[in-house]
Amino acid sequence: MKTIIEPFRIKSVEPIKMNTAEQREVILKEAFNNLFLIKAKDVIIDLLTDSGTGAMSSRQWAGVMLGDESYAGSDSFIFFETTIKNLMGFKNVIPTHQGRAAERILFSTIAKDGDSIPSNNHFDTTRANILEVNANPIDFVCEEASDFNSDFPFKGNMNTDMLENFLRKADLSKVPIIMLTVTNNTGGGQPVSMENIKQVSKIAKKYNIPFYLDACRFAENAYFIKINEKGYMDTPIKEIVQEMFSYADGCTVSAKKDAIANIGGFLCTNDDSLAQKKKDLLILTEGFPTYGGLSGRDLEAVAYGLMEVLEEDYLKYRIESTKYLGEKLNSLNIPIINPTGGHAIYIDAKKFLPHIPVEHFPGQALACQMYIDGGIRTSEIGSLMFGGNDSNGNPFYSKNELVRLAIPRRTYTQSHIDYVVEVMGIIKDKSHKIKGLKIIYESRTLRHFTAKLERI
Ligand code: F0G
Repeated sequence: MKTIIEPFRIKSVEPIKMNTAEQREVILKEAFNNLFLIKAKDVIIDLLTDSGTGAMSSRQWAGVMLGDESYAGSDSFIFFETTIKNLMGFKNVIPTHQGRAAERILFSTIAKDGDSIPSNNHFDTTRANILEVNANPIDFVCEEASDFNSDFPFKGNMNTDMLENFLRKADLSKVPIIMLTVTNNTGGGQPVSMENIKQVSKIAKKYNIPFYLDACRFAENAYFIKINEKGYMDTPIKEIVQEMFSYADGCTVSAKKDAIANIGGFLCTNDDSLAQKKKDLLILTEGFPTYGGLSGRDLEAVAYGLMEVLEEDYLKYRIESTKYLGEKLNSLNIPIINPTGGHAIYIDAKKFLPHIPVEHFPGQALACQMYIDGGIRTSEIGSLMFGGNDSNGNPFYSKNELVRLAIPRRTYTQSHIDYVVEVMGIIKDKSHKIKGLKIIYESRTLRHFTAKLERI
């Protein structure tokens, strides 16, 4: 069959409130052109993030009712821990309330002032948590990643030559871990090949440095390995996932992505003494190690989600529906990162709005226009997110100016996506008239969440 259908029926629905472009103009102005400051009820299609916004299955909701809320040693924790150990193979599983809590605990225990942490691309919260301990996040993404039009299937890969060059010259006592983000969210939701995971692991071993995966979207990554990497076509997804994790010494995971849960995260390590230190910090800030800031019902939802996400029909629908949106935008000649990744489409705003200079935030300007014209909420992944001011007060900018259309899991249907495409067609026709923005307020870290902007 050519038509790939959503492999689920909808049992429970949430209404969407319609509003007009005139109303949205006012709403956006009151939110200072920052889509994080808009009320969710004023959004028609919410593509701000795929994090925690997925629809849980009836089995996950049934798990919610079964949650064991005991403070210590609950059945729900045992189920959660067993599921993760079985899938990822790590010796220690530490629950946290979400991914960034796992990151904070990891970097507070392993990293110190002046350390460096290489990755393909660190996600923004990872980067911020590394900077918080005065360490240095370094990105060594592969060369193919900067060509948005090549059809190279694994643009999330680490540039292993750059990694080795760096390690050869580095004081290795100042490189506590090497990380790899799968899929590479910042770099366009692009997957990392098994070969690359293997190579990075080999380099890490050679220099005796622990290797961690930031594995929020591990299942989507595994599906890309299955369909695009030689030798994996007939391998079940679960085995691919197990192989991916077999090369790592630990991982951080936001369960709000591929565990299809509304909240949750975890941290894994094979190092027992490090696990003890992490648990000590966990008790101080998140909770006892058998709940780590989550309720028993959350642990159940995460565990069931981790099983469901491995279903091949689900992953096929997931990856193909993201591709569907990408193909439609390609046919409108709207510049996006190709090939399409797992959880989102990334529009190249620099190319789409060439008349807006980077200091006037073309990505944010496009995101605002999508809200006005269609009530669509997206996020800027450009200079608002990754730019800032250096210690001398001089502004610096991001390499790319992207707008991310993140697709929540099992939440929107094809007609919702067709609506997004229609709105983009309207915007395309008047793109030259879109104006840039300037910042009138910004915070010291993660400024995109709270910044206030004004139209120029
Ligand atoms: N790592 C990656 C690759 C992520 O994409 C995220 C979150 C995190 C870590 C942090 O996890 O949100 O549970 O604390 N990404 C979301 C997004 C917020 O919209 O891409 P968290």
